[in-house]
Amino acid sequence: MDRLEVPHASLEVEAAALDADDPLAAHRAAFVGAETSLIYFDGNSLGRPPRATAERLARFVTDEWGGRLIRGWDEAWMDLPFAIGDRIGALALGAASGQTVIGDSTTVLLYKLLRAALDAQSATDPERVEIVVGRDDFPTDRYLVEGIAAERGARVVWVEVDTSRGVDADLLRAAVGPRTAVVLLSHVSYRSGYLADGPALTRIAHEAGALVLWDLCHSAGSVPMDLDAWGVDLAVGCTYKYLNGGPGSPAFAYVAARHQHRLTQPVQGWMGAADVFSMGPQYRPADGMRRFLSGTPPVLGMLAMQDTLDLLDEAGIDAIRRKSIALTDFAVRVADGILGPLGVSLASPRDSAERGGHITLSHPAMRAVTARLWRGDVIPDYRDPHGLRIGLSPLSTSFIETLAGMRAVADALRAEA
Ligand SMILES: Cc1ncc(COP(=O)(O)O)c(C=O)c1O
Repeated sequence: MDRLEVPHASLEVEAAALDADDPLAAHRAAFVGAETSLIYFDGNSLGRPPRATAERLARFVTDEWGGRLIRGWDEAWMDLPFAIGDRIGALALGAASGQTVIGDSTTVLLYKLLRAALDAQSATDPERVEIVVGRDDFPTDRYLVEGIAAERGARVVWVEVDTSRGVDADLLRAAVGPRTAVVLLSHVSYRSGYLADGPALTRIAHEAGALVLWDLCHSAGSVPMDLDAWGVDLAVGCTYKYLNGGPGSPAFAYVAARHQHRLTQPVQGWMGAADVFSMGPQYRPADGMRRFLSGTPPVLGMLAMQDTLDLLDEAGIDAIRRKSIALTDFAVRVADGILGPLGVSLASPRDSAERGGHITLSHPAMRAVTARLWRGDVIPDYRDPHGLRIGLSPLSTSFIETLAGMRAVADALRAEA
């Protein structure tokens, strides 16, 4: 029988069966709020807090901060950005140790790595003055590229994209050339959920002699990666989305070992210096990943993500991806069945191999629909033009929750009409 002909009640049966068969179902209970009736479709923007985090935070205040005081820096905190970075690298990025560090915000880390890469490229070849970036990439990425280009006399090459997809191999091939210094790419598009082909796009950038910097915000913790095997140069990603680090938790940066000695970043702070406590007259960058730090590491902001890393270790990123695909496939089927007749179209790839952990549904009423849903404790988010983003965080979202949320979207659309 065609999916569109399935009677609506059978969707509940299907969702219950998918939950019953879900090997990761038990992990949902590890998150605060999962026991309530609130429906959360925005774990790709701000993940739910793991339950274990409350105790970790309390313990930190009493035992570590309160008990060890300034000694905490020597005993543990100075190493935390590298220890957690290595765990993210191993569990989510396919990165060997010594290449990933927790630092500043995503925006600041992208700035530092993009500037460092551009400077290194134009130092070896002054003709390489172009930065390639997608026209529909996240605003911070586009704004940074424009700012750095103005600062360094570089040129921006925009890759025009369909907003329901992202930068693919053909588009990138047409944009790069002998003048390309750096390519900045989104692994999963924040708007459409388009999943770029990591190894293929990295290869295309390299064949043109460019360095590649990946924005992994919407894939880290949800889509498996193999940064070392793909030959990626640089990457940055958020930790407050699928890594559940909490509002404003600091981002991670990946710099391939082969580049670390030749890249110098522009925010020359004491924490990135060769000998932090010698307080010397001049900045000399540290060896390895420390040189990409600038100021005091935000230790409190690094606590919560450790609980998600424990869950990631237990569940495994491949199983997480399998559930993510099952969730988005189910959401697409439900959207076709109950939202299509209301005039909703899919503004994301239909093929799960080209899709990350969220889908976007398009309808002119979606801004008002989103506001109505929020009032009723159903939480997706809205992105222009007319896009309702459904983010399905695999560890904390069930199929029944997904279906109930989609039914609420249908009700809200009918009410707005
Ligand atoms: C794809 C992408 N890149 C960059 C950022 C910027 O991150 P931050 O605000 O933490 O600097 C975000 C934030 O949501 C994002 O989704």
